Amino acid sequence: MKKLYIETYGCQMNVADTEVVFSILGKCGYEKCDIIEEADVILANTCSVRDNAEQRIMGRIEQFNIQRRKRRGVVVGILGCMAERLKGDLTTSGKVDLVAGPDSYRRLPELLEQASQGFPAVDVTLSREETYSDIIPMRTDGKGVSAFISIMRGCNNVCSYCVVPYTRGVERSRDWHSIVREACGCAESGYKEITLLGQNVDSWHFEDMSFAGLLALVAESVPGLRVRFSTSNPQDISSEVLEVMASHSNVCRHIHLPVQSGSNRILAKMRRRYTRERYLELVREIRSRMPDCAITTDVIAGFCSETEEDHRLTLNLFEEVGFDAAYMFYYSERPGTLAAMKYGDDVPKEVKTRRLEEIIALQNRLSLESNRRDIGKTFTVLVEGASKKTDSELCGRNSQNKMCVWADTEHKPGELVEVEVTACTQATLLCRLTDNQIGR
Ligand code: SAH
Ligand code: SF4
Ligand code: F3S
Repeated sequence: MKKLYIETYGCQMNVADTEVVFSILGKCGYEKCDIIEEADVILANTCSVRDNAEQRIMGRIEQFNIQRRKRRGVVVGILGCMAERLKGDLTTSGKVDLVAGPDSYRRLPELLEQASQGFPAVDVTLSREETYSDIIPMRTDGKGVSAFISIMRGCNNVCSYCVVPYTRGVERSRDWHSIVREACGCAESGYKEITLLGQNVDSWHFEDMSFAGLLALVAESVPGLRVRFSTSNPQDISSEVLEVMASHSNVCRHIHLPVQSGSNRILAKMRRRYTRERYLELVREIRSRMPDCAITTDVIAGFCSETEEDHRLTLNLFEEVGFDAAYMFYYSERPGTLAAMKYGDDVPKEVKTRRLEEIIALQNRLSLESNRRDIGKTFTVLVEGASKKTDSELCGRNSQNKMCVWADTEHKPGELVEVEVTACTQATLLCRLTDNQIGR
């Protein structure tokens, strides 16, 4: 057996893809290895979404190359979005031996064979069909509690700032039979939670089934498991999806709904197909159907031509929604995107950073307020394991995806417990076990 080390960057879809790669290569004589100094093959599954993600990975490749120089025969390669974006550049410059894009993983055994014989191997062909639906991922989450299930690949939106459609290709939905089979397989293997993944899950469709239909089918196929999904694009999430959530108690009360900006002018320039007003209406609809549903978001500060007024509209929207949490970025121009070709990256770096800091400061307060509102409430939490601080505390998430910690030396990862929130920080609900643990 050859030893295979993979480092994963970027979104959850990449985490899921790495599990597919371990599965494909596991059948061809490679075993997972966690110690880089012992690996025969060192791969990075990469992300291109922002420049600093790519810079960090380039730094890591330099480190991988120390191994390549020290030990003859070690193969270094890159997978994923950066492989797709940079294509053969990295083999030409001698930095890596192998480059495989997101749709080329079935060919990894032969590409690795070629690379190990000293011939650089590159395959960045994008596919219109590949969904790896027949491959059972080799799940690497050591605790066996929560599993990702990729339900689609690619993206057909062309948000003007975003590199994903170029690195992942056109949108493809995976057939529902294989999704349900995989969900049931997770249940049989003892998993307690699954997350259905796609760049735009609400546009999943297969034959005459929509995402709402799939969500209901999955939730009913694995009634003992929690079901999550990500990411929802505000332009596609439907009332039917909200209905399915509201009527299935095992579908978690959390929607990740990236807004990107609070200004209609900027949203149009970003080519997002919703307005601020539509977004706020959606938030009202979610809350009226499910008052306990958490809403989180992504935002970009300092997109092309953004003015102080546009920025103020973003802050104001954050305040109005009161997000439970947010991923916040400043705009990073990506070569080849519409924004890079048509608009200038004209907001100075210091202004972007300052606006981002203002959004972060506001969200920190909103997160704290959201957590404070939970003090005194009880939640069912899926135990993940020991808390970061001490072995005498456990941690896990509630349905709203908020991290909870509580003193506990009895329960095990994968069990459900009931806790009461007694205090909080901006990031965590501090809880105690209630007396009501029977029958869970
Ligand atoms: N498919 C998801 C987003 C995937 S990318 C959606 O449409 O909502 C994850 C996040 O990265 C995006 O929501 C966006 O906030 C951020 N992002 C994407 N491209 C970016 C760029 N060029 N600069 C900064 N942030 C970016
Ligand atoms: Fe990128 Fe837009 Fe597709 Fe999301 S929906 S992956 S932001 S192009
Ligand atoms: Fe990054 Fe590719 Fe995901 S660019 S965010 S790893 S789809």
